[in-house]
Amino acid sequence: MASYNILLLPGDGIGPEVTAEVEKVAKVVSDAGLAKFEFEKGLVGGSAYDAHGKAISEADMARAQAADAVLLAAVGGPKWANVPYDVRPEAGLLRLRKDLGLFANLRPALCYPALAEASSLKQELVEGLDIMIVRELTGGVYFGEPKEITNLPNGQKRAVDTQVYETYEVERIAAVAFELARKRNNKVTSSEKHNVMKSGVLWKEVVTDVHAKSFPDVQLEHMLADALGMQLVRRPKQFDVIVTDNLFGDLLSDVASMLTGSLGMLPSASLGAADANGKRKAMYEPVHGSAPDIAGKGIANPIAMIGSFGMALRYSFGLIEAADLIDKAIADVLAAGLRTADIKGDAPSSVSTSAMGDAIANALKKAL
Ligand code: IPM
Ligand code: MN
Repeated sequence: MASYNILLLPGDGIGPEVTAEVEKVAKVVSDAGLAKFEFEKGLVGGSAYDAHGKAISEADMARAQAADAVLLAAVGGPKWANVPYDVRPEAGLLRLRKDLGLFANLRPALCYPALAEASSLKQELVEGLDIMIVRELTGGVYFGEPKEITNLPNGQKRAVDTQVYETYEVERIAAVAFELARKRNNKVTSSEKHNVMKSGVLWKEVVTDVHAKSFPDVQLEHMLADALGMQLVRRPKQFDVIVTDNLFGDLLSDVASMLTGSLGMLPSASLGAADANGKRKAMYEPVHGSAPDIAGKGIANPIAMIGSFGMALRYSFGLIEAADLIDKAIADVLAAGLRTADIKGDAPSSVSTSAMGDAIANALKKAL
């Protein structure tokens, strides 16, 4: 039986609570004899700052580099609002993405039938929704230099962030999007703001070239990022795969998440380039944050975290069937009426984080 080494980084806030539920689901998969998982635990974000004065230690970075996959829950919280900028909780997450070379962030937005009414949009607009947002994750304004605040002679300050993309960065993320589209509904919407940004002009040009050269069979459309935001809430089912830069991808995936009922539902996969053996560095994390307001109460929704483990099975371990069964277990549990507080809607009651995790683990056990 194949054995995989997974680095678990629960992080802050609700992170440890939702991570515990993943371990239950992983145990079901290994008990069924599909694979063995060796979990190691590390610290990232505020918890790492408290322990080492850094957002992630060198030892945990080395573990992340060596792992078959990293599972990260969430970082940040008001407790660390005033720590120095370069050791703030988010810096740990950004360093993992950058140092592991995880340029492709896959953020599926799937509306489970049982949750269509929990969406803030009309049910018919979101029922059956299945979008894949492909967010560039190691470039753009998140990492561009200079990035600084300087003092001006007149006593004012000047802040600069730099949005920068090179051809190869757009080429490789576009290829990921086109390849995914071929396995889905064969359509890619590429989004930028070429009407005001040079990086948008280049982005559009490169995506057009990659399409013409290697993926002419896939339908390609370009849409300005503001218009795409509007279309996402107007008629979301027109989209299949959306490919966009780091910042627009961050914004648009939060918007897309609410279409599905709750931010607590969305998993994500961050992938690096394939090596000579076809193996990619990978980190799996929910789209949601650390939700400090509900941390420690046992009411957080573990579905995005469990779904992220499902994506690890799909994209890192080749356990496609088991990944499908995890998605199905989630759908079944929701269809049976189980709800955490965030997706409760008009339901009479909601269940705890661990009750939701147990239910999904049990449903999966039956299916396996
Ligand atoms: C996300 C988060 C991060 C981001 C933060 C925590 C740095 O919002 O993964 O979407 O902006 O990328
Ligand atoms: Mn975000």
